[in-house]
Amino acid sequence: MSQNTDAYEKWTKTYRAFLKNRKTLNWPPTPLVRMFMGNYIPNHVRDFAGKKVLDVGCGTGNNMGFFGMLGLELYGTEVSDELCDLTRKMVADLGLSLDIRTGFNRQIPFLSDFFDYLVSWNVIHYENNEKDMIEAIAEYARVLKPGGRMFLSTTGPKHMILKNAEIVGPHLYKVGREDDFRKGEVFFYFDSPEYIKYYFSKSFKDVMVGTVSDFMFTEWQDYFLVTAVK
Ligand SMILES: C[S@@+](CC[C@H](N)C(=O)[O-])C[C@H]1O[C@@H](n2cnc3c(N)ncnc32)[C@H](O)[C@@H]1O
Repeated sequence: MSQNTDAYEKWTKTYRAFLKNRKTLNWPPTPLVRMFMGNYIPNHVRDFAGKKVLDVGCGTGNNMGFFGMLGLELYGTEVSDELCDLTRKMVADLGLSLDIRTGFNRQIPFLSDFFDYLVSWNVIHYENNEKDMIEAIAEYARVLKPGGRMFLSTTGPKHMILKNAEIVGPHLYKVGREDDFRKGEVFFYFDSPEYIKYYFSKSFKDVMVGTVSDFMFTEWQDYFLVTAVK
């Protein structure tokens, strides 16, 4: 399977610098907490203790303290061995044990039917064509147990990353921001909730789509939220 090693090296370098400057959050985004804890999702049973959660592309482990507090067993992937080591240590400093392995949206190094929950927070759009996107969604479903639930966030149409982006195909955007280290890379962004339902329904049932959108004085943060069941 072809992997984008240049991009993975850039992520590792970026996080190395973040951690050196202590520029990392160590807390989860509010929409993720609401999806887990709130009473918004029909048939979502909030009974977490002893269950397994996989956070794909978990970065420096910002969600792990929250998951640990819920009594979940912690698993994650990141795109390089170095990044996995850095994140494992960050999470150990919180007193928690994380099984984190080098892996990717389309290549998750865990057994099939293994997880109760899968979280993918602003990670799935790093696929850069439709075939790989469909494969990534199927790979997410593979590792979930039947009845397991996915919680996902991905870029929405107003998001700041799309400023100056060039459309290079259906759902495909080349990043055009001078101030972003991803400039020139192509990502797959779902253009509407209907497309999310279309693509995720190939591998999941009960696909539900929400949105969060904040104008932060100068820039838009805009996301689609997705939950679905295997
Ligand atoms: C915007 S960050 C989000 C990090 C984390 N989920 C969070 O919310 O803090 C995107 C993450 O996806 C990872 N990533 C990039 N390409 C990926 C791929 N093809 N498969 C899985 N993870 C990938 C990056 O290393 C990075 O940690």
